[in-house]
Amino acid sequence: MFSYEEIKTIRKQFPILKKNNIIYFDNAATTQKPFKVINAITKYYCNFNSNVNRSFHFLGKISTNYLELSRNNIQSFINAKSREEIIFTSGTTESINLIAYGLYQFIKKSDEIIISHSEHHSNIIPWQVLSQKKKANLKFIPVNSEGELNLRIFNKIITKKTKVISISHVTNTFGIINPIKQLIKTAHKYKSLVLIDGSQAISHITIDVQNLDCDFYVFSSHKMYGPTGIGILYGKKQVLDKFPPYQCGGGIIEKVTLKKTIFSGLPFKLEAGTPNLAGIIGTNKALNFLGNYSIRKINTYETKLLKYALKILSNIKAIKIYYKNSQLTKILSFNIENIHSFDLGQLLNNYGIAVRTGKHCAQPIMDYLKINGTIRISFAIYNTIEEIDIFYNYLIKCLSCFYPR
Ligand code: ALA
Repeated sequence: MFSYEEIKTIRKQFPILKKNNIIYFDNAATTQKPFKVINAITKYYCNFNSNVNRSFHFLGKISTNYLELSRNNIQSFINAKSREEIIFTSGTTESINLIAYGLYQFIKKSDEIIISHSEHHSNIIPWQVLSQKKKANLKFIPVNSEGELNLRIFNKIITKKTKVISISHVTNTFGIINPIKQLIKTAHKYKSLVLIDGSQAISHITIDVQNLDCDFYVFSSHKMYGPTGIGILYGKKQVLDKFPPYQCGGGIIEKVTLKKTIFSGLPFKLEAGTPNLAGIIGTNKALNFLGNYSIRKINTYETKLLKYALKILSNIKAIKIYYKNSQLTKILSFNIENIHSFDLGQLLNNYGIAVRTGKHCAQPIMDYLKINGTIRISFAIYNTIEEIDIFYNYLIKCLSCFYPR
């Protein structure tokens, strides 16, 4: 467990926290960035900016080395079998779109794709589009009133026609950890591929893709202290090998004539154009930052924050907390009777507290639970018990505007 002093030192690494004097509880949307990440990006542009895998002067060589070093580090971070299985994208959204595109040729009329009621839009829309185009059936794993997946129904709706299942590891609305290992095991009995959207898990849970045995695992750097605009797609080599290029252009070829192109192999085949090298270098530093502390230790600390927040928020009579299970990760969603989340969020904002309000890019689960949104607080390594106390006191103050004595 982190000591108070350790957290103080960690906080000093995040310039934005000091500058803005804010309480930042919107980490599920994006985390703040430590100096390490920011400086690595500045250093790249100041010292060795150049293109990669094509410019063979000394700058190009340094950049290419950094690119491939980052790929290796990501491979070991999630324990992928080979570096070819790590593809750089612009984020989770692009990763899921790339996979849906890659699977296009394998999905036939009446095949099935399964997602859940609690996915965020990025993990719904690509599958809607794919199933509409191919006249496939899009099926949904329902959730109970707490938001947990109904595995009994999942076991009923999966069939031999199921070609792909795409599920979040941790839900972005309520922070529920889905039983992905169990889902993957069942899916593979039916020979279905499984994509795990790890955006809300990656900086909180240790990921071992070989142990999970998922076919794809995707996440964004900006939710793990890295820069925006860069995402990682892990895919099993034997599956990605069958994918056509998602985009066509430079960097993905062995040979081009005016009549035809011979594409290169993985990972380059799926990375057309100049990559976001600054983003990749920043991501590598984010891994380095995380590596200083161990995900397990971060998780233990964030769980302590979450349990504390749950405890004091439970003092509010008119509160409805969505999902209180101790298996929660660092997300806590709630509503206060008769108050719209937007109104409360706005008032909290006036006190310098950043929370996310509304439907969190997950309208179907909100409709399913018949709510028009929630107030979501989500923690990261730099948050503290003191911040939760301040948040709580301001929340009570805000509530007095709605419930005057
Ligand atoms: N999916 C991100 C969130 O949950 C944007 O806030």
